[in-house]
Amino acid sequence: MRRGAVLFLLCTTAIILFLVHSVWTLLTLLVADGSEDAISKAELPAPGSPLIDTRPQLIPKIIHQTYINTSIPEVWREAQQSCLDLHQAPEWEYKLWTDADSLQFIHDEYPWFYETFKNYPYPIQRADAIRYFVLNHFGGIYIDLDDGCNRELEPLLSYPAWVRKTMPTGISNDAMGAVPHHPFFMRVIEQIHNYDRNWILPYITIMGSTGPLFLSVMWRHWTADGMNVGDGPEGGRVRVLFPDEYNSHSWSFFTHHLGNSWHGKDVQLIFWMARNWVLVTLIGFILGGAVLCFCWWSYRRYILVSHSASADIPQWKTASIRSRLPFWRRASAQKEYELVSRHEV
Ligand SMILES: *[C@@H]1O[C@H](CO)[C@@H](O)[C@H](O)[C@H]1NC(C)=O
Repeated sequence: MRRGAVLFLLCTTAIILFLVHSVWTLLTLLVADGSEDAISKAELPAPGSPLIDTRPQLIPKIIHQTYINTSIPEVWREAQQSCLDLHQAPEWEYKLWTDADSLQFIHDEYPWFYETFKNYPYPIQRADAIRYFVLNHFGGIYIDLDDGCNRELEPLLSYPAWVRKTMPTGISNDAMGAVPHHPFFMRVIEQIHNYDRNWILPYITIMGSTGPLFLSVMWRHWTADGMNVGDGPEGGRVRVLFPDEYNSHSWSFFTHHLGNSWHGKDVQLIFWMARNWVLVTLIGFILGGAVLCFCWWSYRRYILVSHSASADIPQWKTASIRSRLPFWRRASAQKEYELVSRHEV
């Protein structure tokens, strides 16, 4: 094979490897189902079982929720009340983090994150981020306002940290619990500003910078780095609550009400792409193939030509790059064609 072709193949391979490397975590998310860390129904005491009190209770009895201010809209009041009713003072503490509270809390306790936090373009990013910080700081259980409680959450206090699995892939940040300064949530808050990027579509920006996608990526890295071990109070293992225990049955912990109130137009596009993923994949391959063909064509057309040119005709060495670009091609077209045909054999 010609040296140029080898070079081209090497470059293409390098680019493909780089792309695969960039999305590797996302690819592993597709196959990692977290079942090895599942909180199985077999180990959970039934509602009201005396066994509940015999289990260690590591997570402090605090429920965190967030809203713009203290006027919770009617649609979520029932869900909120269901959690309040099952987890009452003085045993349990309830913290509603309003926008003002959150800003003040970050300002006072995590000043290094304040600028990032304050400048997030979408309010939902602050609502996402604050939950990791309060879980890290106080520990407890964070519950989205659209999640109601279906039974007492005490059995979930026995795990140093847990998150909720979403189907088909990843984890959510709408219900999760942890002891204060759990190493996973420490990592999450340390990394979160690195993910503060704009992905053009608001939905992807939100998901990837602070939302479930961000948390899922953190979770994959955590496992890949071998940190997902240790069940004791200091352990790093993050347990996973599956749909059966989350909201599918009468013995599940939560009920899910109206949600996703922040979704915009771009979500329709993304959901459409998810529904038509075969078509989207096909188009992706066709576009990818077209780009590759174009690169190959350009490579032969311009780089090889100029290469042979500089070897054969010394004055071309100094020729400006312009002469190789299509726009300025006509003037020197004759010479180039000769060179191309000479090189072709
Ligand atoms: C809370 O926020 C909502 C939505 O922005 C607003 O309509 C309402 O007036 C606010 N309530 C208070 C007490 O500020």
